[in-house]
Amino acid sequence: MGMDRRCFLACLANASLLAAAPGAWAGSKQSVSGTPDLELELRASPDQVVIFPGKPTRVWRYQAKVLHGDKNAVASLPDSHLGPIIRVQRGQHVRVHFINALPQPSLVHWHGLIVPEAADGHPRYVIGPGQKYTYDFEVRNRAGTYWFHPHPHGHTGEQVYAGLAGLFIVHDDEEQALGLPNDAQDVALVLQDRRFDRDNQLLYLGSMMDRMMGFVGDTILVNGRPDYVLNAERRAYRLRLLNGSNSRIYKLAWQDGSPIMVIGTDGGLLERPVTRPYLTLAPAERVELWLDLSLLAAGERLRLLSLPFETASIGMMGGMGMMGGGTRGGSSFEVLSVQVGRGAAQPARPPAKLSAMAPARAEQAANHRSPRTVWTTMAPMRLGLNGRVFEMTEVADDEVVHLGTTEVWRLVNEASMGMMGGMPHPIHIHGVQFRILKRSVHPAAESAWLGISQGHVDEGWKDTVLLMPGERVDVLIRFDGYPGLFLYHCHNLEHEDMGMMRNYLVKA
Ligand code: C2O
Ligand code: CU
Ligand code: CU
Repeated sequence: MGMDRRCFLACLANASLLAAAPGAWAGSKQSVSGTPDLELELRASPDQVVIFPGKPTRVWRYQAKVLHGDKNAVASLPDSHLGPIIRVQRGQHVRVHFINALPQPSLVHWHGLIVPEAADGHPRYVIGPGQKYTYDFEVRNRAGTYWFHPHPHGHTGEQVYAGLAGLFIVHDDEEQALGLPNDAQDVALVLQDRRFDRDNQLLYLGSMMDRMMGFVGDTILVNGRPDYVLNAERRAYRLRLLNGSNSRIYKLAWQDGSPIMVIGTDGGLLERPVTRPYLTLAPAERVELWLDLSLLAAGERLRLLSLPFETASIGMMGGMGMMGGGTRGGSSFEVLSVQVGRGAAQPARPPAKLSAMAPARAEQAANHRSPRTVWTTMAPMRLGLNGRVFEMTEVADDEVVHLGTTEVWRLVNEASMGMMGGMPHPIHIHGVQFRILKRSVHPAAESAWLGISQGHVDEGWKDTVLLMPGERVDVLIRFDGYPGLFLYHCHNLEHEDMGMMRNYLVKA
């Protein structure tokens, strides 16, 4: 699968890196004291699973066990090598002892959670094979669907690709008072695309072009399985979707043309449900859907499709895979289907109001007249942010913010639009949840943009925002988490691994 040679190189590269970063061995410095509410052991190791008939597939997977606290806090994602699902209550103190049983350096990032610097999975805290690291944090986030994955610099893409992705679901009182669908009606669905060889083994990057554009596979997996069917009853469901793909963007739509009802995004529930004709889901984004199957006939099959769309790019992006996700001339493909049961329908209504949410206004930020601007940049074969690439501990003067302040960041994706039409970049910021204030698009990219922009859901809390080619997005960020060095980067994992990532410093 081509992973072994890269691992060998990575192990060499990281040996020197580890020597230079003794802090990596010390564990969390800002650890919460006292006995945690939940204490887990989380182990990453190679394994083999049966995905297709014939030979099992070599994967990497996380497995967790509860050492202290609620035994039901960890559940496996049914019939999957992905996961597990960790469920906690807001306010709980969580301690995770990570064991790296992989042949490569690794570490865990808690995507979307606001945690101290030493628990955030910054690549400088990478640990070698056979090492342990303890993550210690209090769950400050709102109820929502967060996730965790590796973050070793230069190797995040291949490790997530190999199967390392789990869910971290937070509940809180406000959410629980709503009585949303739960238990078997609360379903997590991780969307990924993959390529396999004839022996059922995963194939990762083939060419430099894969790396520049991001990996796109020809087989869609949901929770690690092809041709995914959700067997469901005729009642309401809460579907938690995570785009766990390395670079594929989905334009999701129900095949019967019914609108998609969205109740939550990256940072939890929206103020009220919204509907969209289709939904844009970029890598790392999450969305929570309300799906009322009581409206469907007994025995019906409902399909979730991904529709073709243009990315305003030309020439070079053609032939990126037969399902064309995001290329011109691509076609629709099925992501999953829902098999509706034959029992009596149990109608339900979504709550009219889901969550209290203060309006977000640019004026809340001191810098709203001159936002801090992050340009995606593309020197030949070198993607960056403001013309820079990742350096392990480097922070530029214009990458320093102050704890407790609120800023507008203007994210601009106009890199090389003339030359290549540009590329989409899902931009993710660690250490915060932010609000989206506004979007605009360069006139040259408008026609392609109109084919996908109706699918953005910008009403709620976000940690990742898709920037289509030509797009600029203003986000409102309050830095009220923790001081220290945090990351912002493109969550196209091939872009991230190439260095389209930077540190920013939160000064106390
Ligand atoms: Cu989900 Cu820095 O990443
Ligand atoms: Cu993250
Ligand atoms: Cu990118």
